[in-house]
Amino acid sequence: SASDPALVERARRAKAALGDRVFVLGHHYQRDEVIQFADVTGDSFKLAKEAAARPDAEYIVFCGVHFMAESADILTSSSQKVVLPDLAAGCSMADMATFDQVEECWEALEDAGIAGVTVPVTYMNSSADIKAFCGRNGGAVCTSSNARRALEWAFSRGEKVLFLPDQHLGRNTAVLEMGLSLDDCVVYNPHRPNGGLTTEQLENAKMILWKGHCSVHGRFSPECVDDVRARIPGVNVLVHPECRHEVVTKADHVGSTEYIIKKLEEAPAGSSWAVGTELNLVKRLGAMFPDKNVTFLDRTVCYCSTMNRIDLPHLVWALESLASGQVVNQITVDDDTAHWAGVALDRMLALP
Ligand code: 13P
Ligand code: SF4
Repeated sequence: SASDPALVERARRAKAALGDRVFVLGHHYQRDEVIQFADVTGDSFKLAKEAAARPDAEYIVFCGVHFMAESADILTSSSQKVVLPDLAAGCSMADMATFDQVEECWEALEDAGIAGVTVPVTYMNSSADIKAFCGRNGGAVCTSSNARRALEWAFSRGEKVLFLPDQHLGRNTAVLEMGLSLDDCVVYNPHRPNGGLTTEQLENAKMILWKGHCSVHGRFSPECVDDVRARIPGVNVLVHPECRHEVVTKADHVGSTEYIIKKLEEAPAGSSWAVGTELNLVKRLGAMFPDKNVTFLDRTVCYCSTMNRIDLPHLVWALESLASGQVVNQITVDDDTAHWAGVALDRMLALP
């Protein structure tokens, strides 16, 4: 279907018929067949800001995953409608922290007498009710492009941080960017009583990391960094902070998808780059910068299957439905959740 000219033409026509009534956002991990129809592409942070900056668009079609569309619904006005072209486009990391599990964790922190000095910070990659939990309890949202500033903010308000749900982004930011030690971090496992931690461990920790991870980035190994360095002399290793700590410590550069693109833009012609992030983006980087040698850090890692759920047929269906007056796959967050999640998102947007 990718290059089906009939589908491309249908998408073009439906989008033209909608005109300014529709605004299409595309995350960098989306397929090329979809990204060609995005009015703006970006990392999670940029897309959240772009959604908030389009008050005149009646429909926001979000080509990305569910938690991004939820955040867009929270950040847009109540008359605007956010559409996710395939409702099955979730995120396995976001699913690793449920509201009940996080409430139970907070009770464990209360029992240990540390909830009062702990600030909850959630990665954007979480459901709206987890964001709302953070909003209600004095915490904030962060993305991979502002995690350090969010953690600095949190540590200015409390002694400890509960970081949800990506242990790797939390650990990499705390240890590699803020000078904390690995011993300052503990991992809370929601499937074990008390998170699998003793009260003493909770008392001594500065960073309480949720045991969650990205199923795509978690598969890059430190060995593949060694392999690529042996294979390509002078290669620059560039990875996303959702990669494991052992991988990130071996890399040359680490940052969000927007940062990864900027790094390649600035790179001299002829330079070599091994990129550890989702495959749609890495392939696109190769096509965007033919004068640079771009390789995928580990050929055994594959696409993000949920990002890939949004394909051209789903986009065509969503746009044609909207053009014919039918709103499909609308993502809505209830008022109370939206209010508190909005508080946590606004704290992120207000970071210096
Ligand atoms: P960023 O685009 O914010 O770097 O996020 C990556 C990601 O995994 C989104 O699912
Ligand atoms: Fe979730 Fe990872 Fe896919 Fe991003 S790449 S949507 S974090 S599973």
